[in-house]
Amino acid sequence: MKYTALLALSILLLFLNSAQCSKILIVFPIAAPSHYILGNALARGLAEAGHDVTMVSPFEEKNPPKKGKYRDVVLTGFLDERNDASKRPNFFQMAETSPFFFLFFMNSVGNEYTRKMFAHPNFQALLKSDEQFDVVILEQFINDAHKVLAYHYKTPLILFSTIGPNAWVNNLVGNPSPPSYVPDVFLSYDSHMDFKQRVVNWLFTVAAELNRHLIFFPAQNKILKEYFPDAPDLSELNYNASLVLLNSHESVNDAVPHVPNMIDIGGYHVNPPKELPKDLKQFMDNATEGVIYFSLGSNIQPSQMSESMRKAILGPLGKLKQKVLWKWDEDTLPGKPDNVKISKWFPQQDILAHPNIKLFITHGGLLSTTETIYHGVPILAFPLLGDQKMNAARAEMNGYCITMQFSELTEEKVTDALNKLLNNPQYRENVKRRSRLMHDRPVKPMDLAVYWTEFVIRHKGAPHLKVAGVDLPWYKYLLLDVISFVILVIIGCSLILRVIVRKIFCSRKKTADKLKQN
Ligand SMILES: *[C@@H]1O[C@H](CO)[C@@H](O)[C@H](O)[C@H]1NC(C)=O
Ligand SMILES: *[C@@H]1O[C@H](CO)[C@@H](O)[C@H](O)[C@H]1NC(C)=O
Repeated sequence: MKYTALLALSILLLFLNSAQCSKILIVFPIAAPSHYILGNALARGLAEAGHDVTMVSPFEEKNPPKKGKYRDVVLTGFLDERNDASKRPNFFQMAETSPFFFLFFMNSVGNEYTRKMFAHPNFQALLKSDEQFDVVILEQFINDAHKVLAYHYKTPLILFSTIGPNAWVNNLVGNPSPPSYVPDVFLSYDSHMDFKQRVVNWLFTVAAELNRHLIFFPAQNKILKEYFPDAPDLSELNYNASLVLLNSHESVNDAVPHVPNMIDIGGYHVNPPKELPKDLKQFMDNATEGVIYFSLGSNIQPSQMSESMRKAILGPLGKLKQKVLWKWDEDTLPGKPDNVKISKWFPQQDILAHPNIKLFITHGGLLSTTETIYHGVPILAFPLLGDQKMNAARAEMNGYCITMQFSELTEEKVTDALNKLLNNPQYRENVKRRSRLMHDRPVKPMDLAVYWTEFVIRHKGAPHLKVAGVDLPWYKYLLLDVISFVILVIIGCSLILRVIVRKIFCSRKKTADKLKQN
């Protein structure tokens, strides 16, 4: 009996194992570490679940996962261009740029690298090999034409959204996103908008929609046809995703609608804490009054900030009894106080996990925000661009953050904010509560990502999860045809009623007049 059970079990395991190894193509073309970190975590997770993963990105994994199979197709040269100092924008000066400008600026960025990936020799070599895949996972980020890969390989398509549900992805799967309470990621609002904010949000939403349909999609379609002349139009490929994996979770993001094929896996990239390098560990262990960690992320070079901004921050930091770790991109920091230690790189997640950490000073990027909630550390946010202002506004609404703009920094304001964050326990309690929400989930988010990817492979797509709204033209989706019809009927009826009333009234009047005459 026992042996039969054992035999059955091993046959089952063997079957599961062989059934489970699928070939997965993951495409994360953006030359920015914050995007790659997410793609890399997903690729590792899928490989460790036993799959054969091919990763197309500008980066190379030096330490591939031990389990499963993993291979890089490196978009060489993408990073050199990004790292070219002469081409780097000064984000501190760009921080005040209108979001409407970014809307159009993103078009040219998106078109440029969509084309560059198609044209890349390593990518072309992959296309020309007769390699087959079971599913394509694509980062959806102003690169809509890349969806043609699922058509090319005849596989289902999974989209990955680095910034949660947003205007780029909502329409592709028919996800409702009312501008009355869902702010656009480029604006600096939280979900409770006043009248003026709703006006701006609505105008921005409409402008973004018009831009996509009238300018961006036609340009992407043109690029698509250059490289895949026989493929269907983008208007067809765009709305055929089986699933959307979202780097979001309600502990970090606002509660917003999700259609059934949108799956939240936010927090999946955060690793269990590792031991810190020896010098850092000593530094943090010794800091009995606590440590403040200051990093503006992987994209922004803090040395580009003006002298007055730097002084407005360094002055107050130097007067604190806490120690400070500042991720600084040069070898020296002018005017560095003794309690501040600089480095070009810090193991951010492990620092945030240290018991002596008191505060995180951040640009408010989504990865930093997610990691700070994971470890329960309050933040002082200096948001600059993209979704950072929205993330900071949201964190402030949720009571674990104070937000300041670089342009309005003074020593007094920074001192005031630091005092509040370090001495009022409210901020810490609020972020700890968020942290408990993030950890209280039925399944680990990485397991969820693996499950849903395998689900899509097993069922060769997931059309049953698709809401019918995807296929409706916008005027039908918004019921404008029905509303116009009802208005016309009401107008028609009232006209008819008016004629009838007039007739009756006139004939009555006539009879009355006649009676009078008689
Ligand atoms: C749309 O997706 C389904 C399911 O993955 C697939 O069978 C079909 O070929 C796709 N259509 C196009 C035009 O790519
Ligand atoms: C930490 O404290 C110990 C003991 O007081 C001292 O020997 C060591 O140098 C300190 N380390 C750092 C990095 O400050």
